[in-house]
Amino acid sequence: MPFNTALTRKLGIRIPVVQGGMQWVGYAELAAAVSNAGGLGILTALTQPTPEDLRKEIRKCRSMTNKPFGVNLTLLPALVPPDYGAYAQVIIDEGVRIVETAGNNPGPVIEKLKKANTIILHKCTTIRHAKAAARLGVDFLSIDGFECAGHVGEHDITNFILLSRARQELKVPFIASGGFADGQGLAAALALGAEGINMGTRFMCTVEAPIHQNVKEAIVKAQETDTALVLRRWKNTTRLYGNKVALDALKIEKESQTGDFKEVAPYVSGQRGRQVFLNGDINYGVRFQQRLIPPMNMDVADSYPTQVWTAGQVIGLIHDIPTCEELLSRIEKEAVEALDKSRSLYTDTPVQSKL
Ligand SMILES: Cc1cc2nc3c(=O)[nH]c(=O)nc-3n(C[C@H](O)[C@H](O)[C@H](O)COP(=O)(O)O)c2cc1C
Repeated sequence: MPFNTALTRKLGIRIPVVQGGMQWVGYAELAAAVSNAGGLGILTALTQPTPEDLRKEIRKCRSMTNKPFGVNLTLLPALVPPDYGAYAQVIIDEGVRIVETAGNNPGPVIEKLKKANTIILHKCTTIRHAKAAARLGVDFLSIDGFECAGHVGEHDITNFILLSRARQELKVPFIASGGFADGQGLAAALALGAEGINMGTRFMCTVEAPIHQNVKEAIVKAQETDTALVLRRWKNTTRLYGNKVALDALKIEKESQTGDFKEVAPYVSGQRGRQVFLNGDINYGVRFQQRLIPPMNMDVADSYPTQVWTAGQVIGLIHDIPTCEELLSRIEKEAVEALDKSRSLYTDTPVQSKL
């Protein structure tokens, strides 16, 4: 049954579920599968080493689906930032109409994309940032609660509060992100005022997600208590799957006398983030964990094969590895049932007490 929300109408999708950008996961195979199943699939731009590689991936995705899909462009602080303008230009040139933006200082990229008439979904973890993005003219805000995978922000506000604050404060429609895995969650998000949901971790654990089976099985086995928050000391708090490397990094972060980021950098390097998804060793590289300081003249990112990977608290709700089609059909059915059931919870006629 098609949903009728601001999100489904604007994007031309059937089910109001977005697959959020995921570094080293958001390739054409996953994005196309999500779009074919009725949601919005999203390619992750920076998973492609160059803008030209992104162009190829967009073309590949288009060959796999005739449904709408988007591209995520994440703007994170870096010593040598990627050429965001060039990635945005490829997105425009290839005629992609939907972009998910995230991260710092998105103004220039959003301005460029809006000039090309692109629909923008911008991710935020605070209402203050959401309002700033609204002033930039974004079409939807994607409100990321503290439950979410990856960058959770520094304020630790869970979605029960954040979504209602969004409903109270924002003039721009919003979707709910972080902690969603099923149709009951979708129905709850709609009841709180969202126009749909965004899911990351749940889509990692699907047949089409191009990552190692061991990672998917680790998610199925995990509980909601199995994530770890690292990098708070440097105001870059990130939620990871709580493997040995993440827990060791956290210990160093807490106990370091110097507070020098170099001590944990080898543990949390995003550059090598891909390896665990390829080799499937969910504790990849722990044998190297005793070496804290990278040898001189060695790039931090390349010096240690230690590995962490991102996952949200929602790992506790994930118990299987369905196809995207199975997952989205199930979410659709559950959401409709939950919304129908809610109608039976009130009545026009007074209820007789059994007392
Ligand atoms: C493995 C992984 C990688 C991610 N990489 C990115 C990224 O590069 N850019 C981004 O904006 N969000 C990224 N996210 C966040 C997701 O897009 C989404 O907002 C988040 O997963 C929602 O929380 P959930 O995991 O509870 O569904 C990532 C999430 C995961 C699980």
